[in-house]
Amino acid sequence: MTYSFYSFAISLFIFLVATHLPILSWCSDSGFSVELIHRDSPKSPLYDPDSTPSSRIRVAAERSHSRAIYFRDAIRKARMSSSALPMDEANNFYSEITPNTFEYLMSFYLGTPANKVLAIADTGSDLIWVQCVPCKECYTQSAPLFDPQSSSTYKTIPCNTDSCSLLPQSSCGSSSQCDYQYGYGDKSIVEGYLSTETIAFDSTGGRPVQIPTILFGCTHQSNGTFDKNDAGLVGLGGGKLSLIRQLGSTIGSKFSYCLPSSTETSTTSQLNFGSNAVVSGSNAITTPLISGSPDTFYFLSLEHISVAGKTIAVGNPIQAKESAQGNIIIDSGTTLTLIDDNTLQYVESNVKSSISLPQVQDPNGVFNLCFNVSETGASAQFPEITFQFFGGASVVLQQSNAFVEAGQNILCLAMISSGATADSINIFGNIAQQNFHIGYNLAAMQLTFAPTNCATQ
Ligand SMILES: *[C@@H]1O[C@H](CO)[C@@H](O)[C@H](O)[C@H]1NC(C)=O
Ligand SMILES: *[C@@H]1O[C@H](CO)[C@@H](O)[C@H](O)[C@H]1NC(C)=O
Repeated sequence: MTYSFYSFAISLFIFLVATHLPILSWCSDSGFSVELIHRDSPKSPLYDPDSTPSSRIRVAAERSHSRAIYFRDAIRKARMSSSALPMDEANNFYSEITPNTFEYLMSFYLGTPANKVLAIADTGSDLIWVQCVPCKECYTQSAPLFDPQSSSTYKTIPCNTDSCSLLPQSSCGSSSQCDYQYGYGDKSIVEGYLSTETIAFDSTGGRPVQIPTILFGCTHQSNGTFDKNDAGLVGLGGGKLSLIRQLGSTIGSKFSYCLPSSTETSTTSQLNFGSNAVVSGSNAITTPLISGSPDTFYFLSLEHISVAGKTIAVGNPIQAKESAQGNIIIDSGTTLTLIDDNTLQYVESNVKSSISLPQVQDPNGVFNLCFNVSETGASAQFPEITFQFFGGASVVLQQSNAFVEAGQNILCLAMISSGATADSINIFGNIAQQNFHIGYNLAAMQLTFAPTNCATQ
């Protein structure tokens, strides 16, 4: 680096700081991290101080159910050829997002000057979108809408472009702009213009990061089950329109997160990009990400589950590609882990036989297998449950990854049925993922788990 470049960089930095904008310092070999806010944490606008662990897990279980239905429908639709579908169904071909079933929020800045947006962070979808002015028939949003007219960097995308064709459903607007229509499982919709903007992030423990051009949806019409606290959504899936794939080589196609235990409500999680998302260490284990359809979802191959040393093979390949078969989706937006009936019954009976605690009914009626821990408290001995993924990648679940508090002194196995074995979509949910640093490498198509205390990271 020459001296003159160095002094130029310093004066540029001073200039940028002086403008008070969240401003770049992007080097392709560096990384950045943003805060992930759990919807039930005190930092979230959805936080309910009157909620209890048991009331939170009850609604999280409902969300896990609808999320599983969303995954199942999206996979079924992607497997069918669109020409074979009747017109009505073809129109709903990609109903890929159920916006009310999210778990995490993140904030970012959009436009010039920058507007702060609090949005859903979703590993189960791709499109980034915000609600824009004018929004005539839109869900009510408490934060101001994004006004593209007042941003000097806003541009619409013409409809006859490759970018426009990345959308599952698009058309040519009156000024040849790329109009999108995103349909949802509950028949609500989001419509708007595919556009480009400058996006920026507050990087925790570092300098703000700015990316000059990102494709996003400027939503001008919406209705459905959105929450007034979400101003949009950041798609973190594996498809081409997602934030991850758009950042692409600048982040080495890598992102990671580390979710603290849900009982530690005051700690926040990190979503890391680029070099910050490298997961390594002697206890890190790696398994392939399996290409599947839709490419949005992160498929893994789960071979066995073992409980206290007894092992069952997990059947039901939902995707058959390459040598390993994708039979489970890893998703940060699903709280519980969903396993097919046969496997779940085996896991339950082995957990039951290796625990001497009295069994009780779940007061919420969500879980099949619950124990009364009023005598033993937290010191109760629970069996080790291991998820063995393809390539000898054994993920050993701690008690807090496998059991949740469903009522006072009641601990339940945090796994529910994904349905009959032939028809089910297994999901590795976020309770099971807590206190692992989990790295996604979309270039190498690998996923790495490293046991980590995420609260102190
Ligand atoms: C959404 O709004 C449009 C336009 O007002 C309306 O026709 C449609 O029925 C609405 N859909 C739902 C699910 O409310
Ligand atoms: C759990 O056990 C204690 C006594 O050991 C009992 O008082 C309590 O009612 C039990 N709870 C349930 C939900 O059965």
